[in-house]
Amino acid sequence: MSILFEPYAIGKLILKNRFIKSSTAESMAGPDGEVTQDMLDFYEAIARGGAACIFLGHAFVHPLGKASPKMTGLHDDRLIPGLRSLADVIHRHDCFVFAQINHGGSRIQGGCVEPVGPSPVVNPSTGLLARELRSSEIRDIIDAFGQAARRVREAGLDGILIHGAHGYLASLFTSPFTNHRTDEWGGDASKRFRFLDEVYRSIRKAVGNDYPVAIKLGAKDDMPDGLSLEEGAKVAARLAKAGIDAIEISGGILTSAAGAIRSNILSREQEAYFLPYAKAVRPKVGKLPLSLVGGLRSPDLMEEIIMEGWTDFVSLARPFICEADLVNKIRAGRWEPVSCTRDDRCRAGMGREGLRCCCDEEPAVP
Ligand SMILES: Cc1cc2nc3c(=O)[nH]c(=O)nc-3n(C[C@H](O)[C@H](O)[C@H](O)COP(=O)(O)O)c2cc1C
Repeated sequence: MSILFEPYAIGKLILKNRFIKSSTAESMAGPDGEVTQDMLDFYEAIARGGAACIFLGHAFVHPLGKASPKMTGLHDDRLIPGLRSLADVIHRHDCFVFAQINHGGSRIQGGCVEPVGPSPVVNPSTGLLARELRSSEIRDIIDAFGQAARRVREAGLDGILIHGAHGYLASLFTSPFTNHRTDEWGGDASKRFRFLDEVYRSIRKAVGNDYPVAIKLGAKDDMPDGLSLEEGAKVAARLAKAGIDAIEISGGILTSAAGAIRSNILSREQEAYFLPYAKAVRPKVGKLPLSLVGGLRSPDLMEEIIMEGWTDFVSLARPFICEADLVNKIRAGRWEPVSCTRDDRCRAGMGREGLRCCCDEEPAVP
């Protein structure tokens, strides 16, 4: 049997195989961030299709951290029953589910809220200038992360995934490109790590030591004088020391060619584009469970990377939008690359009618 189908643990959870559905913003929530029937249907299909664990699309911890109009919310206890229904439909298929918890910072779309960040810097993903957060606001946000995590646990989901990548608030604090503060929240690498550290501690306090808490980490941001891979790997080491249960390795602030969501992955050479980041992180974190995301398309390459020890899981995002049942197909012997090829289109289409595969549609104007 391929290692892709051998069980492996994250904290107390034994995942039945190595396939994780990586987070994709659903753009399907109700006006106050409620879970909808469309979300239940979308995720049940992926759970039924054989994934071991689903990382939900990012959800806001505080109303002022809502990044886009139809984003899912975790800011209010009234949202717990909807989240519980989501956990229930996923659990029917022997699949785990983590909520990705986030604050949009200055990566805000559709004029949702005021763009904010550690320092008044333009977010390269949106072109929006951040207003510098006051220390008291930073404290409130850290508290909101803890409260959101408590709701996730109460709703019966299996774990938390902190969004620590892609130009949202936590990654703005770690990067010297966007954090120019000279108070206790900025300066050297350890001070720039402080926000993430306190977010992690607030979550841990709210959910307890036995509940899985993972992070999607931007290990390098590719900005001038931004977060280097060396420092990103040290951030991973600090989180491992603090007690994080797993790291999903990503990168980038921009969504451009060098960013987190690269398009036109049509050859093996273009696949696994963050593998060098995993190679930098692995020696710093020992046996901590890692998952690699970014352009993974060929099962034999996924198998090879796991066998070599660079990662324990593979996280796929766009391929699951295209083929909810791709894990069952691979298990049944379909070993050629997954069929997501027009991989720029679901992203462009998602704001309009909610997330769906747009491979067969003409490109939309984002
Ligand atoms: C439509 C869309 C929405 C996304 N939303 C999120 C998100 O909510 N949180 C996140 O961490 N990454 C998000 N991503 C990035 C993916 O999780 C993933 O890192 C990236 O697409 C590369 O993986 P892939 O090549 O398997 O698609 C999104 C990507 C796409 C295409």
